Parts: sequence; structure tokens; C-alpha cells
Amino acid sequence: MCGIVGYVGYRQAQPILFNSLFRLEYRGYDSCGIAIADNGITVYKDAGKVGNLEKRVPHLEGTAGIGHTRWATHGEPNQINAHPHCDCSGRFAVVHNGIIGNYRLLKKQLIAEGHRFISETDSEVIPHLIEKYYRGDLEGAVATALKDVEGCYAIIVLAAGESDLVAARKGNPLIIGIGDRENFVASDVPAVLDDTNRVVYLEDGDLGVISTAGIRIMRDGREVAWEEKKILWSVEDAQRAGYEHFMLKEIHEQPRVIRDTLIGWLSSDESSGESLVDLTKMQGDIRPLTLLACGTSYHAALVGRYIIEKVLGIPVRVELASEVNYYDRPPDGAVAIAITQSGETADTLRAMKRAKAAGCLLLAITNVMDSSASRIADEVVYTRAGPEIGVAATKSFAVQLIILYSLAILSYKVDARRLADLVMELRQLPEKLERLLSDKDGIKECAGYLAGYESVFFIGRGINYPIALEGALKLKEISYIHAEGYAAGELKHGSFALLGENTPVVAILARDNTYQAMLSNIKEVKARKAPVIALAEEGDDNVGEFADMVISVPAVDLLFSAVVNVVALQLLAYYTARERGCPIDTPRNLAKSVTVE
Ligand code: M6R
Repeated sequence: MCGIVGYVGYRQAQPILFNSLFRLEYRGYDSCGIAIADNGITVYKDAGKVGNLEKRVPHLEGTAGIGHTRWATHGEPNQINAHPHCDCSGRFAVVHNGIIGNYRLLKKQLIAEGHRFISETDSEVIPHLIEKYYRGDLEGAVATALKDVEGCYAIIVLAAGESDLVAARKGNPLIIGIGDRENFVASDVPAVLDDTNRVVYLEDGDLGVISTAGIRIMRDGREVAWEEKKILWSVEDAQRAGYEHFMLKEIHEQPRVIRDTLIGWLSSDESSGESLVDLTKMQGDIRPLTLLACGTSYHAALVGRYIIEKVLGIPVRVELASEVNYYDRPPDGAVAIAITQSGETADTLRAMKRAKAAGCLLLAITNVMDSSASRIADEVVYTRAGPEIGVAATKSFAVQLIILYSLAILSYKVDARRLADLVMELRQLPEKLERLLSDKDGIKECAGYLAGYESVFFIGRGINYPIALEGALKLKEISYIHAEGYAAGELKHGSFALLGENTPVVAILARDNTYQAMLSNIKEVKARKAPVIALAEEGDDNVGEFADMVISVPAVDLLFSAVVNVVALQLLAYYTARERGCPIDTPRNLAKSVTVE
């Protein structure tokens, strides 16, 4: 996720901007840059660390400027793709956080009108649009330009010869920091906290005009009153946006990152979308498609098998990347898809190389642009989770699922009506997750209960079997409670021997063809005196009769139950670990990226 900052006031802007960029470093980034308004606009930017850029930039005279830390999404991390971006005349400089869904179309139109582009980014269309609409009124030009833009953004615009910064947001956060004869603007609070703790939060659709003298906020073309908030957090608290841990922050970011991820896939007509990669064409015949991954990404692959087989009817083989390397026969389907958040997992990279050598067309689903996985693959689809700092994967898993859904659903050519329904459901998922995240009392109560045990089973069937595996993995890695994820039908083939009053079972129910069998499994478990926590859809009145505790999740199309259920289990693991006083963001013996085999 990119970070943006802006300053206008009586002091020199350069050191203030660099200090703000240092304060945003915790978010992770690959390149950075600043622009200062002097007589014109001077831009310095490059791939690499803020500290390196700071050392190379000479003193720039100017009391207004903008800055950026970039987490690449469109175009590799290099000097040209780093922000700020300018128009042809170099009069307008823009920093952007977000994704412009229709940038290809806008870029084509602007090129036809004579604009020259130099970067591969989606963001560069914004300064060109402002240049196109500018008639002596910066605020008006920005407002008009943004009407052309589909997607999400937080932007700050700096213009030569103008005393105001103009900032706007839709979908991505933006705050204004209030000073005395100076004002600040940034994507998040830590960037301004060294200078002020007086902050105004912009709302979606707001446009702010920030000058030395004061600020104005425009909504739907009218100036609105704003409310100042006093931030009492330390810089460290602010980096976690007030959440106690990065993991909790990242769990709560899921509705937004899902929206960000969908922007690239869904059309604005509400009922359709465009697949960036057509699996049916790539596959070509009925040889199985192979999914390769480790850990949490492997669980996403297992969910992917259900989705792709159900929607497309293509046979899918899922392999642990850490095991497939020992098989004599490498993956031999027409297409192999590697799923890896970091893009650097050693086992996954090795499996990818073997699949490629065996002649597979190789697709990578990864969160990190220019990662090793993205360089090995023939095609790459990027998840838009932004940097994930907690060692336990949460939001990266959710968007891996969203990519797999999109790959399958948007390749679905058969039934337009079903397609429209599924696209609608995908669009509604973020809102349903917001509902789940806004009422956590039931989950906290169950977590308080689980925290007293040393062994827990998670059971599910069908698409929720991999979610049982993921729920167990989350619990063990951050709470250090022994947990096993099981296909519910497998318990009686051995693990029943372990069940008793000291082994709670978390049972995941979905109202699909697995429902009755799951209810029977719950009864069998209860008969062995094991306490049962059931995860069930809102309105499910049956389950309360059999389970000791019930966590209710919003009802969704059954194909998507994996997403809501996993978010509930992430929270269950989080609050259990918190109850036990564990170091949640940095669990013992684990690393964020596993670069050894
Ligand atoms: O970066 P990757 O997705 O390739 O990582 C794979 C696993 O190492 C990772 O998912 C690991 O299991 C996480 N710690 C789970 O929370």
C-alpha cells in the first residue's frame, strides 16, 4: 500500500516531507519520491529506501511539496514508475495511493489527444487529466479529472504557481493535519504526528484544499464544515492505526483490500467482469490444472480446487510445493498456478521452475511485484493486499481467494444469469465482512473459552475443509495451542481416540450438500464429550441444539462461505492468542518469508 504526504506552510518543505516518509516506512515500500514547488516543480524519486534518496537530494528551496512511498502494483519498482508523476508540461505533480481501474482506456484516449506517458503506472493518467482540464482553476480541474476516474484513490496534487495543495479520496484513507500557519496532508496519521496531533479525517468523495492560511473541504461541489480530532496515540500506536497488533489491523483491512482487488476485474455495469487470464483458453484440453503452494497459500489452493472444478469443470490437482519437488514426475498439466504471498518461498520457487521445465504454462498469484515468483512465471496476477506485516497471513489469504474466484467465475461462459448473481455476491462480500467485523463479542467469548485448552480440532467438509486447516494453522501459529484441521468425515478413522472433554472441536457448517453430514459429525463429537463451537450462517436455528457455543456469520452464496468463515476463524485465533498473552505479530520460530527449503 502506497503512502502519501503533503506539506504547505512557512517552513522548508523538504525535511518535513522526508521525516513524514520515514514515518511511513513501516508499511513496506519499494521506491519513493518527493516534489517541491519552487519556481516550477522539482521532482526527485527512485527505487529503494527513503534514507538513500534523502542523501542524494540537494537542498531544494520551497515551502510546499508532496511525497510518496510506493508499493508497486502497475509496473516494476524503478525510478520512472516511482511517484510523484507529472503531466507533459511538468506543471502538475501528483502522488496517488490506490488503483485506477479504467486507466488503460483513459491512457489510450489521452495519448490520442497528444499526451505523452513515460511510466507503466495507472497513476500517471491523473496529472495528464488535470492538465487536460486546467483552465486557471486547480480545484476545478482536479474535481473534473476525478469524474473520469473509476477505481479507488487518495491523491495529493501540487501545482507550480499555486499556493494550495488539492487532495481527494475515494476508497483510500486521507487525513489533513492542522498546524499553525502550516498544514499537512497524508494517507495516515503517523506521517504527521511529529508536527501535529490535530487531524481531520476526509470522507469518501471529499476534496480538500490545503493552504498556509487554512483548509476547505468540498463534498458534492459544496463546502462542508469539518471536525478536528485530537490524536492521543504514540507514533507506534498510530502505525497500527490504533489496533493493538498489525494482525488485527490486517484482519480489519480485508473488506478494503477485497474491493481494491476486485477493481481490476469487475466492470462498472454491476453484473459482469473481465478475466485478466482466461483459464479455459489457457488450459486448452482436459489435463488437470496444477496448483502449487505452501502453508496458508496451500489452503487457498485447496479452496481454489473446489471453485475451479465447480465453476469451470476443469480437473485440478493441488500440490504442496514443499513435497511436489520429491515426486519423480513434475506437474504435467498444461497450466500450473503458483500461489505465494511473498513471491519468495523457496519451495514454491523450486516447484515453479520444475513445472516450467516440464512444459507447463506458469501463472503466479502473488502479492509482491517484481518478486522472484513474478519473474519466473509466464503470467502474473497480483493480489492487492498491500504489505502484510503480521507473520500470520490473513488479508493476503482473503485476496488469494478473491483472485481464484475471479479467475473461475469470469471465465464462466455458460450461464449469464448465474454469472451476474456471482458477480453481485462478490461485490457484496466486503460489506458482509464489515458486518462480521463490527460485532466480535461472540467470537471473543469463544476465544476466552478456547484459551484454557491445549488441543483443539477444526472440522469442515467440502469448500470448508481447507478453511478448517487454515483455522487450525492460525490458532497454532499465534496462540501455541496444538490444533488440527480435519476433514470432518476423517475423524472417525483414527482421531476419535483423542476426543474428550479436554479437546474442543470447532465445526464449520455451510448450508450446502455437506450440512446434514456435518450435523451428524457434531453429534458424534458431542457423544465423546468434546465441547463444540459451531460456526454457522445467521438464521441457522438447528445448530444451537447440538453445539455448546455458536459463532454466527453473514449468509452468502455457498461458493463464498470460505471467505466469511476464514475471517471469523482469524479473529478466533487472534483473540485466543491475546487472551494467552502471546506475541501475536511475531510468533516464536516463524518468519514472514520462508526462503530456505
Ligand atoms: O509467501 P507464501 O504465501 O509463499 O508463504 C507460504 C507460507 O510460508 C505462509 O503462508 C505461512 O504458512 C504463514 N505464516 C501462515 O500464516
